[in-house]
Amino acid sequence: MRERMSAYKLKEWKGNEPLVWVTAYDFTQARLAEQGGVDVILVGDSAGTTVMGYDSTIPVTLNDMVYHARMVRRGAPNTMMVVDLPFLTYTNAEQALANGGRLMQETLADGVKIEGGRRTLAAVDSLIRHDIPVVGHLGLTPQSVHAMGGYRVQARTHDAIQTLIEDAQALAEHGIAALVLEGIPDRVAAHVTEQIPIPTIGIGAGNATDGQVLVFHDCLGLSSRYPKFAKPFANLGEMAIAGLQRYGAEVRARSFPDDSHSYHVTDKEWDAFCHRQ
Ligand code: KIV
Repeated sequence: MRERMSAYKLKEWKGNEPLVWVTAYDFTQARLAEQGGVDVILVGDSAGTTVMGYDSTIPVTLNDMVYHARMVRRGAPNTMMVVDLPFLTYTNAEQALANGGRLMQETLADGVKIEGGRRTLAAVDSLIRHDIPVVGHLGLTPQSVHAMGGYRVQARTHDAIQTLIEDAQALAEHGIAALVLEGIPDRVAAHVTEQIPIPTIGIGAGNATDGQVLVFHDCLGLSSRYPKFAKPFANLGEMAIAGLQRYGAEVRARSFPDDSHSYHVTDKEWDAFCHRQ
């Protein structure tokens, strides 16, 4: 088993083996992720779409993140856990510190993730100055779905590529521990990865980044729709439906529960009970 990752180690990781990140939202998913040997668990605000049934991450609250992250921490006590600060919870230095501090204290997170470039630097500085490790997130940033006009691949024009690179450099210079790059062309991600000294973690960003992150449900075949970049490495959804169908068939046929799944009372106690009547 690989040794436990930390924000400190993460920052120094550049040039080592690719990092494996996955999201998780509850105790069982976290336990599986830890047993599966991932380096970092991200409690993403993708909880909004994957487990809460919203069609974006916008409605997710800080209380939601605390609730999910506490479960994840209990399921994966030995894995680095990064928790998303959700929509509008880090609009200025004071707010970011109060909310980031709450995530660290109430969930025992190892760091927080925030979306956006240079406009988030006041939040980044305030968190890092108070020893809260920060992971950045650039490219397709789901909290900006309205501003982006939908979930579209970003950084496809030379101006947008330049902006992304300058944002990445600014975030790295201000001390973030790692940078998630989502939904950008592979060679843009490769270039950013070469330009900054901290690890880049890609999702829909090609395979030249320093690591990859996938949403738990996309990774294991539990989603109803898959983005182009997602690859299910197991078919848990199909297995679950087949299992539920077998369960239903056995209940209807009265073959479940059988003797081996039932509790018993001795003949002596049962006879004594019958003779009391
Ligand atoms: O919320 C999330 O799960 C994320 C990942 C997709 C990177 O931010």
